Amino acid sequence: MDSLDELLAYNKDWAVRAKVDDPQYFDRMAYEQHPTVLWIGCSDSRVPPSVITGAQPGVLFIHRNIANQAVHSDISFLSVLEYSVLVLEVPHIVVAGHYNCGGVKAACSSKPAPDIVDHWIQHIRDIKRMHQPELDTIQDDEQRENRLVELNVIEQVRNITNTTTVRKARANGQTVEVHGLVYDTATGELKRLM
Ligand code: CO
Repeated sequence: MDSLDELLAYNKDWAVRAKVDDPQYFDRMAYEQHPTVLWIGCSDSRVPPSVITGAQPGVLFIHRNIANQAVHSDISFLSVLEYSVLVLEVPHIVVAGHYNCGGVKAACSSKPAPDIVDHWIQHIRDIKRMHQPELDTIQDDEQRENRLVELNVIEQVRNITNTTTVRKARANGQTVEVHGLVYDTATGELKRLM
């Protein structure tokens, strides 16, 4: 399935089936949402959050960008975080990285990525530099890259924990748990890092 026509044809069938299975489905979905997880993932087409977790519409509030970053100056990420935590009151935030991430690979490469992407992945290069002693102990290129994928997730969890939004919510007694996961594109498995 790759052309827009095919996607739209599938959608038409899906909407009919959903209504047949549950006649009130769209009445419930139309006006409000109560997601339980804010999911921050990579834009990579191989890692669709709802597909790999089986989450139905209404469960995941999603923000995706190259290499699943939670950057303190990114107004798009910050507004998604603020709205989901302070308004929707999601109790869980998940950062999901994945092995074979193009953004992480580019940050490990000496060749520059396209201009704006190269700028965006400077954050990953910073993380690489912060953890250089550990990464230098790993001889295998792929394993070193995989470890940087994991370290990137861990650093993004820290970034999220340090945001004014999460600190404010916690100070008000709200429960907000921040988790780090990594997805293996070779096996389809999600692993918990923290
Ligand atoms: Co990626």
